[in-house]
Amino acid sequence: MKHTLPELPYDIDALEPYLSAETLQYHHGKHHAGYVNNLNALIEGTEYEELSLEQIIHQSEGAIFNNAAQTFNHNFYWHSLSPTPTEPSQPLKRAIDDTFGSLEAFKEAFSQAAIGLFGSGWCWLVLNAHEQLEIITTSNAHTPIEHYQTPLLVCDVWEHAYYIDYRNARADYLEKFWALANWDHASAIFADKEHLNQPGILPPCNNPDDPLCDIIDDMLHQNEPST
Ligand code: FE2
Repeated sequence: MKHTLPELPYDIDALEPYLSAETLQYHHGKHHAGYVNNLNALIEGTEYEELSLEQIIHQSEGAIFNNAAQTFNHNFYWHSLSPTPTEPSQPLKRAIDDTFGSLEAFKEAFSQAAIGLFGSGWCWLVLNAHEQLEIITTSNAHTPIEHYQTPLLVCDVWEHAYYIDYRNARADYLEKFWALANWDHASAIFADKEHLNQPGILPPCNNPDDPLCDIIDDMLHQNEPST
């Protein structure tokens, strides 16, 4: 299976003034594209060639894992950003309030976790194995789907995500991240996961380009009775 670089879900300059077109040209057009191209070259002629991205992440290590996980993480990251302001759905807002005290307290905790991550990596809002909201950080290419956690929102804190616009000031990038955070995407995943927990009700998943669909497929597969 040939993996492809997804189109950005908005224009290249749509995230300005918070993230410039130049940042997206490099981040999407060079870094993200590089991971996809590396992955395709690495898996050619191997046991991983016909596997889905998620299957490769679960079954590989080393360079193949790194490039597969970075491909997934970036696929997800672009959908975690929105050119227009969004707010959490009422069910997600209630869960955030219950877990973190308030949306503002959540943002502060998330930002501190992202700023405090040593080196390169990612800061996530996930539903953990206990179906609870949790802020986690992952180093380098690591990703919550390794552990069957469901990502809702991510911030890429590799320097290539912000260096053109903010130089080394990761805190300034985090401050502006909240103007871009795509709560519609996070809320849709949260709603799907809620549906998934109700027996007999399948979640809507109609967009084959949305990495969420692959996550849901994985979760559904796990729930199938063994034969
Ligand atoms: Fe990145």
